[in-house]
Amino acid sequence: MAPVTFDNVSIRYPGAERATVHELDLEIADGEFLVLVGPSGCGKSTTLRALAGLEEVESGVISIGGVDVTGQEPAERDIAMVFQNYALYPHMTVAQNMGFALKLSKLPKSEIDAKVRQAAELLGLEEFLDRKPKDLSGGQRQRVAMGRALVRNPKVFLMDEPLSNLDAKLRVQTRAEVAALQRRLGTTTVYVTHDQVEAMTMGDRVAVLRDGILQQVAPPRELYAHPVNEFVAGFIGSPSMNLFPADGVTVGVRPESMLIAGADTPSTYRRLAAVVDIVEELGSESYVYATWEGHRLVARWDSSAVPAPGDSVELAYDPEGAHRFSPENGERLSSR
Ligand SMILES: Nc1ncnc2c1ncn2[C@@H]1O[C@H](COP(=O)(O)OP(=O)(O)OP(=O)(O)O)[C@@H](O)[C@H]1O
Ligand SMILES: [Mg+2]
Repeated sequence: MAPVTFDNVSIRYPGAERATVHELDLEIADGEFLVLVGPSGCGKSTTLRALAGLEEVESGVISIGGVDVTGQEPAERDIAMVFQNYALYPHMTVAQNMGFALKLSKLPKSEIDAKVRQAAELLGLEEFLDRKPKDLSGGQRQRVAMGRALVRNPKVFLMDEPLSNLDAKLRVQTRAEVAALQRRLGTTTVYVTHDQVEAMTMGDRVAVLRDGILQQVAPPRELYAHPVNEFVAGFIGSPSMNLFPADGVTVGVRPESMLIAGADTPSTYRRLAAVVDIVEELGSESYVYATWEGHRLVARWDSSAVPAPGDSVELAYDPEGAHRFSPENGERLSSR
């Protein structure tokens, strides 16, 4: 059993004026896939590295499996980390790359072979075991890097943007494979990304970090439906939620809930007279960007009759279903 707990953890780099990670409280359940997401520089890698024992914490307690590991060396923590730049050893075969850490720990060769073979099977790499990394595709190399972590059978997997070297299509495929593999293994995993789509599709729960401060931890659906503040509302979902002032509050309406008014639009909907700026046609749907009273808004539009830039349209939304945030501090004012 390896739940992970951050208890009031602050991390400050030497000489830095303020903490990079500020009083982080986070409980990750045994076997959970927790995604840490947030903009560049918000402290995701720092948090993960602190869990790995690669950064010192200023205050607070980190525990793995109920054991306080705050003062432990990385090697004592029984974790395996996959980095963004997972350099493989070019002169070694796939099998040698995967077994290298085990060889260093002086495991008998027969055991190393068995573990490598098992990991290769899980990752679909059996036929590549004798190849060198240069003779593999990007996705296959990525899987070898995963395999290196896998063979160690750690308590916790830590992954820091492991897919960012892959092209868009391979990324989508590999993220599904990584998520499925994690579920099969049931190993507690903390996965860092700045890509909110990756976060939403992979995580059991998603933790949103901003400027070193945890904003919200919740299952993807809840994060989407009930963002606790304007920041989370704007960060999760693409294109971003429309946020604009109305009736003294900040109203939030997702592009998919923003309509272009027509004959069948209910009379209870609020209408906003806007002028179309840009239309993005994606094939199955279009995004219509329009300006209303100085605010750029976006509506998803499924119809084939797409308005053109310069057209006047009436955007419409259901005020009952809209999110509402405080104009003072951005906190959520109501649940839907
Ligand atoms: N060794 C260091 N010394 C001082 N400051 C650092 C150090 N490493 C990182 N930082 C700073 O800490 C902050 C958080 O960095 P971190 O690498 O954790 O961000 P991140 O969320 O992983 O961003 P990205 O998505 O760009 O990888 C940044 O402002 C960064 O400049
Ligand atoms: Mg990072």
